[in-house]
Amino acid sequence: LADTYFLFSGLIGRSWAMVFAAGGFKVKLYDIAQQQLTSALENIRKQMKELEESGFLKGTLSAEQQLALISICTDLKAAVEGATFIQECTPENLELKERIFGQLDLIVGDKVILSSSTSCLLPSKLFTGLKHVKQCIVSHPVNPPYFVPLVEIVPHPETDPSTTERTYALMKKIGQSPVKLNREIEGFVLNRLQYAVISEAWRLVGDGVVSPTDLDLVMSDGLGMRYAFIGPLETMHLNAEGISNYCERYREGMRRVLNTFGPVPEFSGEIEQKISQAMSEKIPVVPKVLDARRKWRDECLTGLAKLKKKMKSD
Ligand code: NAI
Repeated sequence: LADTYFLFSGLIGRSWAMVFAAGGFKVKLYDIAQQQLTSALENIRKQMKELEESGFLKGTLSAEQQLALISICTDLKAAVEGATFIQECTPENLELKERIFGQLDLIVGDKVILSSSTSCLLPSKLFTGLKHVKQCIVSHPVNPPYFVPLVEIVPHPETDPSTTERTYALMKKIGQSPVKLNREIEGFVLNRLQYAVISEAWRLVGDGVVSPTDLDLVMSDGLGMRYAFIGPLETMHLNAEGISNYCERYREGMRRVLNTFGPVPEFSGEIEQKISQAMSEKIPVVPKVLDARRKWRDECLTGLAKLKKKMKSD
């Protein structure tokens, strides 16, 4: 428990805090708003208790023991004190994040890792010019990080390799599933894959080929079933006698289909209306309904995580 991790307290910050505490690490939550911190702690307590009751609490410590590891702080200097890893989780706004990293740059030492949760801001935008750029890295989680373990680790061109390695090792230690990008790229890897799927989904519905709800079923009851366990490349490998055989068999067909893909959608106008209407009929955009559906999603993800663990150990 020697190390202290310091985080910000929004939606993602809370989830990170729970992941770190489950790993047995001390966590300091920082925010500009005291109210935000108090409600973050209450929310974490409630979630941990519920998880403990349903047997889904991560780690070997009890909810009380994990809660005891989390403290709150509204003074940036005090929050940084003793921290070995800082996970920034402020809103996705370049100027704000630049300001925060600028402030941190002035008060941190040479050992601490400065890590950002950003979903789409490139490390070269966030960290260029910082004195401690060698210690800076992006650790992009997937929402909700407590239930979905992937973390994309994206270095700045000047990030020291030891920063990448230490971040990777830490993520493993707290039970997340890190992947390393060798260089930064718009959207990192996860969102590039996600946007490829979203854009073809949008075109298929827009062109009237399939309804919005059926489109989603293709993923949830089709592709997604195996993607929870194996990726697209292993899928190719297994769907033929290895990759080379797959390419031999399907190369032409894949290229023919891919050549019929349309341009990048506008994500607005009539198609947006159509998809929005279909989704809202199923799940009305009302906080209570959305929250209930999110809760159900998290329960599904927890069950899936258990299954994945069991399948690995079998
Ligand atoms: P959020 O809005 O829930 O939380 C942001 C927190 O930052 C709030 O508690 C706010 O009070 C605090 N804050 C604002 N200005 C601040 C300042 N100057 N100093 C300290 N704290 C400040 O946002 P959320 O969704 O947690 O996102 C945080 C980061 O995580 C973003 O970069 C986002 O791209 C990334 N992320 C979000 C995912 C999501 O699905 N929500 C998924 C993966 C990454």
